[in-house]
Amino acid sequence: MSINPNRKRELWNSKTGLILAMAGNAIGLGNFLRFPVQAAENGGGAFMIPYIISFFIIGIPIMWIEWAMGRYGGSKGHGTTPSIFALFWNHPAAKVIGVLGLWIPLIVSIYYIYIESWALGYSLHFLLGSSPEIVSGNVTNVDSYVKPFSDFLGTYVGSGDSVFLRPSSMAYIAFALTVVINFVILLKGISRGIEIFVKFALPTLFILSIILLVRVLTLETPHGNAIEGLNFLWTPDFQALKNPHVWIAAAGQMFFTLSLGFGAIITYASYIKHNQDITLSALTSATVNETVEVVIGGSIAIPAAVAFFGITGAVAIAQSGAFNLGFISVPAIFAAMPFGNFFGFLWFFLLFIAGLTSSVAITQPVIAFFQDEFFYTRIKSIVLTYIIILISVLMVIFVDKTIDEWDFWAGTIGLVVLGLFEIIIFMWIFGGDKAWEEINRHGLIKVPKIFYYIMRYVTPVFLLLLISFWGYDFLPKILNQSSWNIWVSRLYILGLFIFLTFLVFKSDAKRRKI
Ligand code: PHE
Repeated sequence: MSINPNRKRELWNSKTGLILAMAGNAIGLGNFLRFPVQAAENGGGAFMIPYIISFFIIGIPIMWIEWAMGRYGGSKGHGTTPSIFALFWNHPAAKVIGVLGLWIPLIVSIYYIYIESWALGYSLHFLLGSSPEIVSGNVTNVDSYVKPFSDFLGTYVGSGDSVFLRPSSMAYIAFALTVVINFVILLKGISRGIEIFVKFALPTLFILSIILLVRVLTLETPHGNAIEGLNFLWTPDFQALKNPHVWIAAAGQMFFTLSLGFGAIITYASYIKHNQDITLSALTSATVNETVEVVIGGSIAIPAAVAFFGITGAVAIAQSGAFNLGFISVPAIFAAMPFGNFFGFLWFFLLFIAGLTSSVAITQPVIAFFQDEFFYTRIKSIVLTYIIILISVLMVIFVDKTIDEWDFWAGTIGLVVLGLFEIIIFMWIFGGDKAWEEINRHGLIKVPKIFYYIMRYVTPVFLLLLISFWGYDFLPKILNQSSWNIWVSRLYILGLFIFLTFLVFKSDAKRRKI
Protein backbone atom coordinates (compact mmCIF):
# COMPACT_ATOMS: atom_id res chain seq x y z
CA MET A 1 0.00 0.00 0.00
CA SER A 2 2.95 2.24 0.57
CA ILE A 3 3.06 4.22 -2.64
CA ASN A 4 6.14 6.23 -2.07
CA PRO A 5 8.75 3.81 -0.76
CA ASN A 6 11.52 6.34 -1.28
CA ARG A 7 10.03 8.86 1.07
CA LYS A 8 11.67 8.42 4.43
CA ARG A 9 9.63 9.17 7.53
CA GLU A 10 11.40 10.70 10.47
CA LEU A 11 12.38 8.56 13.47
CA TRP A 12 13.24 9.19 17.09
CA ASN A 13 16.94 9.21 17.60
CA SER A 14 17.29 7.48 20.94
CA LYS A 15 15.23 5.56 23.41
CA THR A 16 15.73 8.20 26.10
CA GLY A 17 14.61 10.84 23.64
CA LEU A 18 11.52 8.85 22.79
CA ILE A 19 10.56 8.32 26.42
CA LEU A 20 11.16 11.96 27.31
CA ALA A 21 9.13 13.09 24.31
CA MET A 22 6.29 10.77 25.23
CA ALA A 23 6.45 11.84 28.87
CA GLY A 24 6.49 15.48 27.75
CA ASN A 25 3.51 14.75 25.53
CA ALA A 26 1.60 13.44 28.53
CA ILE A 27 2.83 15.85 31.21
CA GLY A 28 1.01 19.09 30.64
CA LEU A 29 -1.52 21.54 31.97
CA GLY A 30 -3.60 18.49 32.79
CA ASN A 31 -1.16 17.42 35.50
CA PHE A 32 -0.92 20.73 37.30
CA LEU A 33 -4.26 22.41 36.61
CA ARG A 34 -6.85 19.81 35.64
CA PHE A 35 -5.90 17.02 38.03
CA PRO A 36 -6.09 19.08 41.25
CA VAL A 37 -9.40 20.59 40.19
CA GLN A 38 -10.91 17.20 39.36
CA ALA A 39 -9.59 15.66 42.55
CA ALA A 40 -10.83 18.48 44.79
CA GLU A 41 -14.22 18.69 43.10
CA ASN A 42 -14.76 14.99 43.46
CA GLY A 43 -13.94 14.67 47.11
CA GLY A 44 -10.14 14.27 47.25
CA GLY A 45 -9.61 10.76 48.60
CA ALA A 46 -12.92 9.74 47.04
CA PHE A 47 -11.50 10.51 43.61
CA MET A 48 -8.26 8.64 44.04
CA ILE A 49 -9.58 5.06 44.08
CA PRO A 50 -11.48 5.27 40.78
CA TYR A 51 -8.51 7.17 39.44
CA ILE A 52 -6.02 4.45 40.33
CA ILE A 53 -8.34 1.74 39.02
CA SER A 54 -8.70 3.74 35.80
CA PHE A 55 -4.95 3.64 35.40
CA PHE A 56 -5.05 -0.15 35.19
CA ILE A 57 -8.15 -0.60 33.10
CA ILE A 58 -7.88 2.45 30.85
CA GLY A 59 -4.50 4.12 31.10
CA ILE A 60 -2.05 1.30 30.68
CA PRO A 61 -4.09 -0.85 28.25
CA ILE A 62 -4.92 1.98 25.85
CA MET A 63 -1.38 3.28 26.14
CA TRP A 64 -0.02 -0.05 24.85
CA ILE A 65 -2.66 -0.19 22.15
CA GLU A 66 -1.86 3.31 20.89
CA TRP A 67 1.88 2.70 20.87
CA ALA A 68 1.36 -0.54 18.97
CA MET A 69 -1.03 0.99 16.44
CA GLY A 70 1.32 3.92 15.91
CA ARG A 71 4.48 1.86 15.47
CA TYR A 72 2.68 -0.39 13.01
CA GLY A 73 1.26 2.57 11.07
CA GLY A 74 4.63 4.28 10.91
CA SER A 75 6.25 1.21 9.39
CA LYS A 76 3.67 1.48 6.60
CA GLY A 77 4.22 5.20 6.11
CA HIS A 78 1.25 6.50 8.11
CA GLY A 79 1.11 8.49 11.32
CA THR A 80 -2.56 9.33 11.76
CA THR A 81 -5.72 7.39 12.50
CA PRO A 82 -7.66 7.65 9.22
CA SER A 83 -5.02 5.64 7.38
CA ILE A 84 -3.91 3.58 10.35
CA PHE A 85 -7.45 2.42 11.14
CA ALA A 86 -7.79 1.46 7.48
CA LEU A 87 -4.69 -0.74 7.77
CA PHE A 88 -6.45 -2.78 10.43
CA TRP A 89 -9.94 -2.57 9.00
CA ASN A 90 -10.40 -2.43 5.28
CA HIS A 91 -13.67 -0.54 5.23
CA PRO A 92 -14.53 3.06 4.29
CA ALA A 93 -15.97 3.60 7.78
CA ALA A 94 -12.48 3.18 9.20
CA LYS A 95 -11.43 6.40 7.47
CA VAL A 96 -14.38 8.40 8.74
CA ILE A 97 -13.96 7.18 12.30
CA GLY A 98 -10.28 7.93 11.94
CA VAL A 99 -11.08 11.58 11.24
CA LEU A 100 -11.71 11.81 14.98
CA GLY A 101 -7.98 11.34 15.48
CA LEU A 102 -7.35 14.56 13.55
CA TRP A 103 -10.38 16.46 14.75
CA ILE A 104 -9.76 15.98 18.47
CA PRO A 105 -6.10 17.05 18.55
CA LEU A 106 -6.86 19.94 16.21
CA ILE A 107 -9.65 21.34 18.37
CA VAL A 108 -7.86 20.79 21.64
CA SER A 109 -4.67 22.32 20.27
CA ILE A 110 -6.56 25.51 19.46
CA TYR A 111 -7.58 26.27 23.02
CA TYR A 112 -4.66 24.45 24.63
CA ILE A 113 -2.13 26.78 23.01
CA TYR A 114 -4.17 29.77 24.10
CA ILE A 115 -4.28 28.64 27.74
CA GLU A 116 -0.60 27.77 27.58
CA SER A 117 -0.01 31.35 26.50
CA TRP A 118 -1.84 32.63 29.60
CA ALA A 119 0.76 30.81 31.65
CA LEU A 120 3.49 32.61 29.74
CA GLY A 121 1.66 35.94 30.07
CA TYR A 122 1.21 35.44 33.78
CA SER A 123 4.83 34.47 34.28
CA LEU A 124 5.86 37.66 32.48
CA HIS A 125 3.53 39.70 34.69
CA PHE A 126 5.12 38.20 37.79
CA LEU A 127 8.60 38.70 36.47
CA LEU A 128 7.89 42.32 35.65
CA GLY A 129 6.13 42.88 38.96
CA SER A 130 2.88 43.85 37.26
CA SER A 131 0.88 41.17 39.02
CA PRO A 132 -1.81 42.07 41.54
CA GLU A 133 -1.23 42.42 45.24
CA ILE A 134 -3.23 41.19 48.16
CA VAL A 135 -5.29 44.07 49.54
CA SER A 136 -7.20 42.43 52.33
CA GLY A 137 -5.31 40.27 54.74
CA ASN A 138 -8.51 38.54 55.77
CA VAL A 139 -8.17 34.96 54.65
CA THR A 140 -11.40 33.79 56.22
CA ASN A 141 -13.40 35.41 53.48
CA VAL A 142 -12.04 33.53 50.51
CA ASP A 143 -13.91 35.54 47.89
CA SER A 144 -12.73 38.93 49.00
CA TYR A 145 -9.23 37.63 49.63
CA VAL A 146 -8.75 36.34 46.10
CA LYS A 147 -10.72 39.16 44.48
CA PRO A 148 -7.70 41.06 43.10
CA PHE A 149 -6.63 37.86 41.39
CA SER A 150 -10.00 36.92 40.01
CA ASP A 151 -10.36 40.46 38.67
CA PHE A 152 -6.91 40.13 37.18
CA LEU A 153 -7.86 36.95 35.33
CA GLY A 154 -11.06 38.61 34.15
CA THR A 155 -9.09 41.53 32.74
CA TYR A 156 -6.45 39.27 31.24
CA VAL A 157 -8.90 37.21 29.19
CA GLY A 158 -11.26 40.16 28.82
CA SER A 159 -14.46 38.76 30.21
CA GLY A 160 -17.23 41.22 30.90
CA ASP A 161 -20.96 41.34 30.52
CA SER A 162 -21.11 40.48 26.87
CA VAL A 163 -20.40 37.17 25.13
CA PHE A 164 -17.51 38.88 23.38
CA LEU A 165 -14.21 38.84 25.18
CA ARG A 166 -11.71 41.71 25.12
CA PRO A 167 -8.31 40.31 26.09
CA SER A 168 -5.56 42.47 27.54
CA SER A 169 -2.54 43.42 25.47
CA MET A 170 -0.40 40.94 27.42
CA ALA A 171 -2.77 38.19 26.30
CA TYR A 172 -2.00 39.04 22.67
CA ILE A 173 1.74 39.40 23.21
CA ALA A 174 2.02 36.13 25.12
CA PHE A 175 -0.08 34.30 22.57
CA ALA A 176 2.07 35.53 19.70
CA LEU A 177 5.22 34.49 21.55
CA THR A 178 3.78 31.07 22.35
CA VAL A 179 2.89 30.47 18.72
CA VAL A 180 6.35 31.46 17.57
CA ILE A 181 8.07 29.20 20.10
CA ASN A 182 5.89 26.22 19.17
CA PHE A 183 6.46 26.90 15.52
CA VAL A 184 10.24 27.00 15.83
CA ILE A 185 10.40 23.69 17.71
CA LEU A 186 8.11 21.99 15.21
CA LEU A 187 10.00 23.38 12.26
CA LYS A 188 13.12 21.48 13.29
CA GLY A 189 11.23 18.23 13.17
CA ILE A 190 10.92 15.15 15.33
CA SER A 191 14.45 14.22 16.34
CA ARG A 192 16.13 17.59 15.88
CA GLY A 193 13.30 19.71 17.21
CA ILE A 194 11.03 17.95 19.65
CA GLU A 195 13.55 15.40 20.87
CA ILE A 196 16.26 17.93 21.62
CA PHE A 197 13.80 20.35 23.17
CA VAL A 198 12.40 17.79 25.63
CA LYS A 199 15.88 16.87 26.78
CA PHE A 200 16.11 20.37 28.24
CA ALA A 201 12.47 20.94 29.05
CA LEU A 202 11.81 17.88 31.18
CA PRO A 203 14.71 18.36 33.60
CA THR A 204 13.75 22.05 33.88
CA LEU A 205 10.18 21.09 34.61
CA PHE A 206 11.35 18.67 37.23
CA ILE A 207 13.54 21.20 39.02
CA LEU A 208 10.88 23.92 38.99
CA SER A 209 8.29 21.58 40.37
CA ILE A 210 10.52 20.33 43.17
CA ILE A 211 11.22 23.90 44.30
CA LEU A 212 7.51 24.69 44.33
CA LEU A 213 6.66 21.45 46.05
CA VAL A 214 9.05 22.13 48.90
CA ARG A 215 7.77 25.68 49.25
CA VAL A 216 4.14 24.58 49.40
CA LEU A 217 4.64 21.64 51.71
CA THR A 218 6.29 23.86 54.28
CA LEU A 219 3.40 26.34 54.24
CA GLU A 220 1.80 26.94 57.56
CA THR A 221 -0.88 29.52 58.25
CA PRO A 222 -3.20 30.18 61.18
CA HIS A 223 -5.85 28.37 59.14
CA GLY A 224 -4.00 25.18 58.57
CA ASN A 225 -1.09 23.64 56.79
CA ALA A 226 -0.32 21.90 53.56
CA ILE A 227 -0.26 18.48 55.13
CA GLU A 228 -4.01 18.70 55.70
CA GLY A 229 -4.34 19.07 51.98
CA LEU A 230 -2.36 15.89 51.44
CA ASN A 231 -4.57 14.08 53.93
CA PHE A 232 -7.62 15.28 52.07
CA LEU A 233 -6.25 13.78 48.87
CA TRP A 234 -4.92 10.57 50.32
CA THR A 235 -7.58 9.45 52.77
CA PRO A 236 -9.62 6.98 50.75
CA ASP A 237 -13.39 7.12 50.73
CA PHE A 238 -14.88 3.84 49.55
CA GLN A 239 -18.39 5.25 49.45
CA ALA A 240 -17.47 7.19 46.34
CA LEU A 241 -17.08 3.99 44.36
CA LYS A 242 -20.84 3.96 44.04
CA ASN A 243 -20.97 7.38 42.45
CA PRO A 244 -20.83 7.26 38.64
CA HIS A 245 -19.92 10.93 38.42
CA VAL A 246 -16.67 10.31 40.24
CA TRP A 247 -15.89 7.44 37.85
CA ILE A 248 -16.57 9.64 34.84
CA ALA A 249 -14.31 12.35 36.19
CA ALA A 250 -11.54 9.89 37.05
CA ALA A 251 -11.67 8.10 33.70
CA GLY A 252 -11.84 11.41 31.84
CA GLN A 253 -8.79 12.68 33.68
CA MET A 254 -6.91 9.45 32.89
CA PHE A 255 -7.52 9.93 29.19
CA PHE A 256 -6.61 13.59 29.26
CA THR A 257 -3.46 13.36 31.32
CA LEU A 258 -2.02 10.38 29.44
CA SER A 259 -2.92 12.04 26.11
CA LEU A 260 -5.02 8.99 25.22
CA GLY A 261 -7.82 9.12 22.69
CA PHE A 262 -6.26 12.18 21.04
CA GLY A 263 -4.35 10.51 18.27
CA ALA A 264 -1.27 12.25 19.64
CA ILE A 265 0.39 9.18 21.15
CA ILE A 266 -0.28 7.26 17.94
CA THR A 267 1.47 9.92 15.89
CA TYR A 268 4.47 10.06 18.22
CA ALA A 269 4.62 6.25 18.19
CA SER A 270 4.66 6.23 14.41
CA TYR A 271 8.20 7.59 14.57
CA ILE A 272 9.46 4.54 16.50
CA LYS A 273 11.65 2.09 14.61
CA HIS A 274 9.59 -0.95 13.70
CA ASN A 275 11.83 -3.33 15.63
CA GLN A 276 12.09 -1.29 18.80
CA ASP A 277 10.51 -2.08 22.16
CA ILE A 278 7.21 -0.51 23.07
CA THR A 279 6.02 -2.51 26.07
CA LEU A 280 8.56 -1.18 28.53
CA SER A 281 8.85 2.29 27.01
CA ALA A 282 5.09 2.86 27.07
CA LEU A 283 4.87 1.69 30.65
CA THR A 284 7.78 3.92 31.63
CA SER A 285 6.37 7.07 30.08
CA ALA A 286 2.92 6.44 31.57
CA THR A 287 4.46 5.88 34.99
CA VAL A 288 6.51 9.05 34.76
CA ASN A 289 3.37 11.00 33.92
CA GLU A 290 1.43 9.50 36.80
CA THR A 291 4.24 10.22 39.24
CA VAL A 292 4.39 13.82 38.14
CA GLU A 293 0.61 14.02 38.33
CA VAL A 294 -0.14 12.55 41.74
CA VAL A 295 3.10 13.26 43.55
CA ILE A 296 3.86 16.72 42.21
CA GLY A 297 0.60 17.90 40.64
CA GLY A 298 -1.25 16.70 43.74
CA SER A 299 1.13 18.45 46.13
CA ILE A 300 1.02 22.01 44.88
CA ALA A 301 -2.37 23.55 44.16
CA ILE A 302 -4.53 21.56 46.58
CA PRO A 303 -2.25 21.63 49.63
CA ALA A 304 -1.55 25.33 49.09
CA ALA A 305 -5.25 26.10 48.85
CA VAL A 306 -6.09 23.95 51.86
CA ALA A 307 -3.39 25.59 53.97
CA PHE A 308 -4.87 28.99 53.22
CA PHE A 309 -8.55 28.46 52.85
CA GLY A 310 -9.24 25.14 54.54
CA ILE A 311 -10.73 22.14 52.79
CA THR A 312 -14.13 23.75 52.26
CA GLY A 313 -12.56 26.86 50.80
CA ALA A 314 -10.27 24.89 48.51
CA VAL A 315 -13.14 22.74 47.23
CA ALA A 316 -15.29 25.82 46.64
CA ILE A 317 -12.52 27.37 44.55
CA ALA A 318 -12.08 24.21 42.50
CA GLN A 319 -15.81 24.09 41.86
CA SER A 320 -16.02 27.72 40.86
CA GLY A 321 -14.21 27.26 37.54
CA ALA A 322 -11.60 25.17 35.80
CA PHE A 323 -8.88 27.80 35.97
CA ASN A 324 -9.61 29.32 39.33
CA LEU A 325 -7.42 27.05 41.40
CA GLY A 326 -4.31 27.53 39.26
CA PHE A 327 -4.80 31.07 38.00
CA ILE A 328 -6.48 32.68 40.98
CA SER A 329 -5.85 30.91 44.25
CA VAL A 330 -2.27 29.71 43.75
CA PRO A 331 -0.96 33.17 42.77
CA ALA A 332 -3.02 34.75 45.56
CA ILE A 333 -1.34 32.44 48.03
CA PHE A 334 2.14 33.10 46.70
CA ALA A 335 1.51 36.84 46.78
CA ALA A 336 1.12 36.66 50.55
CA MET A 337 4.52 35.04 51.03
CA PRO A 338 8.05 36.43 50.98
CA PHE A 339 9.40 36.41 47.40
CA GLY A 340 5.83 35.93 46.25
CA ASN A 341 6.50 37.31 42.79
CA PHE A 342 9.37 34.93 42.32
CA PHE A 343 7.30 31.88 43.26
CA GLY A 344 4.43 33.11 41.15
CA PHE A 345 6.79 33.37 38.24
CA LEU A 346 8.11 29.85 38.86
CA TRP A 347 4.60 28.42 39.02
CA PHE A 348 3.48 29.94 35.74
CA PHE A 349 6.72 29.22 34.01
CA LEU A 350 6.37 25.60 35.09
CA LEU A 351 2.88 25.56 33.58
CA PHE A 352 4.21 27.09 30.41
CA ILE A 353 6.98 24.51 29.97
CA ALA A 354 4.60 21.66 30.77
CA GLY A 355 2.16 23.09 28.24
CA LEU A 356 4.81 23.52 25.59
CA THR A 357 6.00 19.90 25.63
CA SER A 358 2.34 18.96 25.13
CA SER A 359 1.27 21.51 22.56
CA VAL A 360 3.95 20.43 20.11
CA ALA A 361 2.62 16.89 20.50
CA ILE A 362 -0.98 17.86 20.02
CA THR A 363 -0.34 19.71 16.77
CA GLN A 364 1.77 16.90 15.35
CA PRO A 365 -1.11 14.67 14.14
CA VAL A 366 -2.46 17.23 11.68
CA ILE A 367 1.06 18.10 10.55
CA ALA A 368 1.87 14.41 10.06
CA PHE A 369 -1.37 13.99 8.14
CA PHE A 370 -0.32 16.61 5.59
CA GLN A 371 3.15 15.11 5.36
CA ASP A 372 2.17 11.46 5.12
CA GLU A 373 -1.01 11.65 3.12
CA PHE A 374 -0.44 14.67 0.87
CA PHE A 375 3.34 14.32 0.71
CA TYR A 376 3.74 17.97 1.60
CA THR A 377 7.04 19.15 3.02
CA ARG A 378 7.34 19.64 6.74
CA ILE A 379 7.31 23.41 6.51
CA LYS A 380 4.28 23.49 4.25
CA SER A 381 2.44 21.07 6.54
CA ILE A 382 3.21 23.16 9.62
CA VAL A 383 2.18 26.40 7.96
CA LEU A 384 -1.12 24.90 6.81
CA THR A 385 -1.82 23.48 10.25
CA TYR A 386 -1.10 26.82 11.87
CA ILE A 387 -3.30 28.67 9.42
CA ILE A 388 -6.22 26.49 10.50
CA ILE A 389 -5.33 26.96 14.16
CA LEU A 390 -4.92 30.72 13.93
CA ILE A 391 -8.23 31.21 12.14
CA SER A 392 -10.04 29.01 14.63
CA VAL A 393 -8.44 30.56 17.66
CA LEU A 394 -10.41 33.73 16.97
CA MET A 395 -13.46 31.89 18.28
CA VAL A 396 -11.57 30.95 21.43
CA ILE A 397 -10.11 34.39 22.02
CA PHE A 398 -13.25 36.42 21.37
CA VAL A 399 -16.30 34.28 22.00
CA ASP A 400 -17.05 33.43 25.59
CA LYS A 401 -17.69 29.77 26.53
CA THR A 402 -15.99 28.41 23.42
CA ILE A 403 -13.25 26.78 25.50
CA ASP A 404 -15.77 25.00 27.72
CA GLU A 405 -17.73 23.72 24.77
CA TRP A 406 -14.78 22.48 22.80
CA ASP A 407 -13.24 20.95 25.87
CA PHE A 408 -16.44 19.06 26.49
CA TRP A 409 -17.00 17.68 22.98
CA ALA A 410 -13.45 17.07 21.87
CA GLY A 411 -11.40 17.06 25.07
CA THR A 412 -13.78 14.92 27.15
CA ILE A 413 -16.39 12.87 25.27
CA GLY A 414 -14.35 12.67 22.08
CA LEU A 415 -11.42 10.97 23.83
CA VAL A 416 -13.51 8.17 25.23
CA VAL A 417 -15.25 7.59 21.90
CA LEU A 418 -11.99 7.46 19.97
CA GLY A 419 -10.42 5.24 22.64
CA LEU A 420 -13.32 2.81 22.32
CA PHE A 421 -13.00 2.71 18.53
CA GLU A 422 -9.29 2.02 18.81
CA ILE A 423 -9.95 -0.97 21.01
CA ILE A 424 -12.68 -2.32 18.74
CA ILE A 425 -10.61 -1.90 15.62
CA PHE A 426 -7.36 -3.26 17.03
CA MET A 427 -8.43 -5.89 19.55
CA TRP A 428 -11.51 -7.16 17.73
CA ILE A 429 -11.48 -6.40 14.01
CA PHE A 430 -7.75 -6.78 13.48
CA GLY A 431 -7.96 -9.60 16.00
CA GLY A 432 -6.99 -10.17 19.62
CA ASP A 433 -4.15 -12.58 18.95
CA LYS A 434 -2.55 -10.56 16.19
CA ALA A 435 -2.89 -7.39 18.24
CA TRP A 436 -1.36 -9.05 21.26
CA GLU A 437 1.56 -10.24 19.21
CA GLU A 438 2.02 -6.79 17.70
CA ILE A 439 2.10 -5.17 21.14
CA ASN A 440 4.68 -7.62 22.46
CA ARG A 441 6.83 -7.71 19.33
CA HIS A 442 10.43 -6.85 20.32
CA GLY A 443 9.18 -5.98 23.80
CA LEU A 444 11.72 -5.69 26.57
CA ILE A 445 9.08 -6.94 28.96
CA LYS A 446 6.23 -9.26 28.23
CA VAL A 447 2.86 -7.76 29.03
CA PRO A 448 1.11 -9.96 31.64
CA LYS A 449 -1.58 -12.04 30.00
CA ILE A 450 -4.29 -10.57 32.21
CA PHE A 451 -4.05 -7.39 30.17
CA TYR A 452 -5.12 -9.31 27.12
CA TYR A 453 -8.49 -9.89 28.77
CA ILE A 454 -8.62 -6.38 30.16
CA MET A 455 -8.00 -4.89 26.72
CA ARG A 456 -10.49 -7.12 25.00
CA TYR A 457 -13.33 -7.14 27.50
CA VAL A 458 -12.98 -4.98 30.57
CA THR A 459 -11.87 -1.72 28.99
CA PRO A 460 -14.43 -1.62 26.16
CA VAL A 461 -17.32 -2.58 28.44
CA PHE A 462 -16.25 0.03 30.94
CA LEU A 463 -16.00 2.71 28.27
CA LEU A 464 -19.41 1.78 26.89
CA LEU A 465 -20.90 2.14 30.35
CA LEU A 466 -19.28 5.54 30.75
CA ILE A 467 -20.57 6.77 27.42
CA SER A 468 -24.08 5.50 28.14
CA PHE A 469 -24.21 7.11 31.51
CA TRP A 470 -22.90 10.30 30.06
CA GLY A 471 -25.54 10.37 27.37
CA TYR A 472 -28.25 9.69 29.87
CA ASP A 473 -27.08 12.16 32.43
CA PHE A 474 -25.65 15.08 30.51
CA LEU A 475 -27.10 15.07 27.05
CA PRO A 476 -30.49 16.56 27.97
CA LYS A 477 -28.76 19.37 29.86
CA ILE A 478 -26.40 20.04 27.01
CA LEU A 479 -29.05 20.15 24.36
CA ASN A 480 -31.05 22.58 26.42
CA GLN A 481 -28.41 25.26 26.07
CA SER A 482 -30.01 28.28 24.57
CA SER A 483 -27.32 30.89 24.29
CA TRP A 484 -26.36 31.48 20.69
CA ASN A 485 -22.60 31.66 21.19
CA ILE A 486 -22.60 28.09 22.46
CA TRP A 487 -24.35 26.88 19.34
CA VAL A 488 -22.00 28.84 17.11
CA SER A 489 -19.00 27.22 18.77
CA ARG A 490 -20.59 23.79 18.28
CA LEU A 491 -21.36 24.46 14.64
CA TYR A 492 -17.82 25.60 14.12
CA ILE A 493 -16.33 22.31 15.27
CA LEU A 494 -18.91 20.40 13.28
CA GLY A 495 -17.67 22.36 10.27
CA LEU A 496 -14.10 21.38 11.13
CA PHE A 497 -15.10 17.73 11.19
CA ILE A 498 -16.62 17.98 7.74
CA PHE A 499 -13.60 19.85 6.46
CA LEU A 500 -11.19 17.21 7.80
CA THR A 501 -13.30 14.38 6.37
CA PHE A 502 -13.13 16.11 3.02
CA LEU A 503 -9.33 16.34 3.29
CA VAL A 504 -9.04 12.67 4.18
CA PHE A 505 -10.97 11.60 1.11
CA LYS A 506 -9.15 14.08 -1.05
CA SER A 507 -5.80 12.67 0.03
CA ASP A 508 -7.11 9.22 -0.83
CA ALA A 509 -8.04 10.31 -4.31
CA LYS A 510 -4.64 11.91 -4.75
CA ARG A 511 -2.94 8.74 -3.58
CA ARG A 512 -4.84 6.64 -6.10
CA LYS A 513 -3.66 8.86 -8.92
CA ILE A 514 0.02 8.45 -8.08
N1 PHE B 1 -1.73 15.14 28.40
C1 PHE B 1 -1.72 16.56 28.23
C2 PHE B 1 -1.98 17.24 29.55
O1 PHE B 1 -2.12 16.58 30.56
C3 PHE B 1 -2.74 16.99 27.22
C4 PHE B 1 -2.40 16.52 25.86
C5 PHE B 1 -3.18 15.66 25.18
C6 PHE B 1 -1.23 16.89 25.27
C7 PHE B 1 -2.84 15.20 23.94
C8 PHE B 1 -0.85 16.43 24.03
C9 PHE B 1 -1.66 15.57 23.37
O2 PHE B 1 -2.03 18.44 29.63
